[in-house]
Amino acid sequence: MILSGCKAGTSPLCILAHEGKTMAKLTREQIEALGLSPEHLPRHVAMIMDGNGRWAKARSLPRALGHRAGVTRLKGIIRLSSDLGIEALSLFAFSTENWKRPVEEIDTLCSLFVEFFIKEFDELHENRVRIRSLGDISKFPPRVSGLIRDAEEKTKANDGLKLNIAMNYGSRDEILRAARLAAAEPGGVTQESFERHLYTADSPELDLLIRTSGEQRLSNFLLYQASYAELIFTEDFWPDFSDERYVDVLRQYARRSRRFGGLEDTKQ
Ligand code: FPP
Repeated sequence: MILSGCKAGTSPLCILAHEGKTMAKLTREQIEALGLSPEHLPRHVAMIMDGNGRWAKARSLPRALGHRAGVTRLKGIIRLSSDLGIEALSLFAFSTENWKRPVEEIDTLCSLFVEFFIKEFDELHENRVRIRSLGDISKFPPRVSGLIRDAEEKTKANDGLKLNIAMNYGSRDEILRAARLAAAEPGGVTQESFERHLYTADSPELDLLIRTSGEQRLSNFLLYQASYAELIFTEDFWPDFSDERYVDVLRQYARRSRRFGGLEDTKQ
């Protein structure tokens, strides 16, 4: 596990980080040393990585550098999720509405996507991460969509973290698409046929959705999947969402009582 900006010996996370490992599964003892327990970890976490622009603005930097810092942070969060044994991580990288942004910003994001898939692919693949996009990636230039399709194909048999990257994703689009596809089946639209056509069909049910930067809304992300998810909003801009903060959010999640409409802390 690699962590930036922590001094050796200052916290269990830093101690682990300074063992110098990259993406090493944590033992139960190590997870418990973080104040967590494997039984109370979410199986599927989603993140709305908000605040890159404001992070940059606060430092009088161009927005592009905010997005770059956001990708750096994203790599740490993917590693920690995998190390903790979380089954699925869904990240909101680019929404169907983000096309409204200036073309220069879209280009920057596309270049960052390309850089990410080129630089990080080997480590992710070695660690059995399965990469999948959520959304219609055909709208991206081929240099982006081609890399994503390639990463999906090469990692499709991997049995580690399911890394879902939402790109040109919008929940309303996804719901309409799933409804249309299910309606075209002989059995028509049932909960089962509908859910089979969601982009997240082969990930476990969403347990926890985190949004950074102080905004408290879902912004068209995983609306159906979030039906029973715990929602946690943090004040940090995404580039400041540290591993320590993530662990803290996971501790909060573990304390929540989940009743799924029933009376007990168990799925009915
Ligand atoms: C929201 O911040 C963030 C985005 C629209 C992009 C998020 C993308 C990344 C972190 C990079 C993802 C990269 C890969 C490889 C998946 P904002 O720009 O809306 O911030 P603001 O609200 O402060 O302006």
